[in-house]
Amino acid sequence: MLDASIWIGLDRGSEESLAAQLVRQLRDRILSGDLREGEAIPSSRALAESLGVARSVVVRAYEQLGGEGYLDPRLGSATRVAAGIVPAAAPVPASAPESANPVRERVRPEPPVAPSRATTPAEDPIDLRTGHPYAPPLVPEEWRRALAVAARDPLRSYAPPPLGEWRLREQIALHLRRSRGVACTTEDVIVTSGTSDALLLVSLALGAGARIATEDPGYPEASAVFETAGLRVEPLPVGERGLLPDLLGAMRTRPDAALVTPSHQFPLGGRMTAPDRTALVSLAARTGTLIVEDDYDSEFRHLGAALPAIAALDPGGVVVHIGSLNKTLSPSLRCGYLVATSGSPIHDRLTRTRTVLGPTVPLVTQSALAAFFASGGLRRYVARTRREYRHRRALLLERFAEHGLADRLSGLDGGLHAVLRLPSGLSGAEAVEALESRGVLVETVAQFSSRPRADDALAIGYGAATAVRLDRGLRAVIEVVGEARGR
Ligand SMILES: Cc1ncc(COP(=O)(O)O)c(C=O)c1O
Repeated sequence: MLDASIWIGLDRGSEESLAAQLVRQLRDRILSGDLREGEAIPSSRALAESLGVARSVVVRAYEQLGGEGYLDPRLGSATRVAAGIVPAAAPVPASAPESANPVRERVRPEPPVAPSRATTPAEDPIDLRTGHPYAPPLVPEEWRRALAVAARDPLRSYAPPPLGEWRLREQIALHLRRSRGVACTTEDVIVTSGTSDALLLVSLALGAGARIATEDPGYPEASAVFETAGLRVEPLPVGERGLLPDLLGAMRTRPDAALVTPSHQFPLGGRMTAPDRTALVSLAARTGTLIVEDDYDSEFRHLGAALPAIAALDPGGVVVHIGSLNKTLSPSLRCGYLVATSGSPIHDRLTRTRTVLGPTVPLVTQSALAAFFASGGLRRYVARTRREYRHRRALLLERFAEHGLADRLSGLDGGLHAVLRLPSGLSGAEAVEALESRGVLVETVAQFSSRPRADDALAIGYGAATAVRLDRGLRAVIEVVGEARGR
């Protein structure tokens, strides 16, 4: 048990916050072995008292260390030092994990819950693929409370309204007005089960045979939805800046719609410039091409101020804005939203389509989410996960910088993944294979492209793996790149 023999010194005059000092010192103690695997640490109340700090300082530090994988918090019993923390570089041997698939799959292995459950790499690969958010080891207290209250509602004889529970739509509209600058009303919001559901509604509303321009490289799930619904997908080459309006304007036949990820191009990770945004919206207003904005991870901006959504520039009905709580909170929730203002030519078709298909999110989830938004719980949760992501992002930068590889990284200003340019002589496919054999799953940028790419790069997701496992995964990536450079 951590006691007076483990000295923690907090400097109240330091620029580093008390919680950050506590995190750093506890992490050092664990890595040095002063605190051993499985050892119970004091309750937050006891440690706060002995250090003379507010309990919230210790709670925050424990939460962060839990998220990083150093502590194993258990409901109703003492928090312990997590098992399986290997301080030194530990190249992970092993055969390729069964789930490894050169093509991006929709069905992915469950991310590890805590390192204490880590087994062999073959059974429990370190998943550094894109699109998986951080999952806290414990259900967040405020979310648990919101769910408990929602669960007390009597079961009803009727399904929830097809466009979504009014209170949730109200909260989503409020959130979008405040943090994304989108001038929308509650009536403009349709609750969805996430981005794919929203894109399906858009596809059905556009009608089979409609032509939609997409970003290349881009989000493969989106193209799959469009094709399934009978749309004609026309990929346009993009760089970090995203879709260039001139390229869209130069298409021989005007497309009915264009899908863009302006706040964080997927997968390259840059963002669309302010002049390009204005030009895109003007082009859309002039030509009647509908802009479909996938605003999938705009909450997680790490460097530079976030720009408002493209929908904020909408002169009237040319942008459909899509957001997802599946990244913000959890993909296990299945909840997102779509916003089309009543001036939009597609608005009525979207609401009709949603009404025909019916609601896709259970009432209890919608009620809990409405309460979670209204209490500020979601805002606090996002602030907490942003801290987690920034820590992981800093770790990634530090590891690559230590090996002179930082200048190969890009796309790190926002979101939950980075792009690593590979050295000549190492193709993306070779890197993926070499890493699979070390028990680490990554993707290549080429996997998100419809045409062959000359540049070989990896997309490295840092959201889901605990910091300890991320560190191991990154060391494996560095080894593989180092071996290629040494050849
Ligand atoms: C570009 C992009 N859009 C949206 C999403 C979220 O999709 P959904 O809400 O269907 O889970 C992701 C998740 O990986 C993504 O990468």
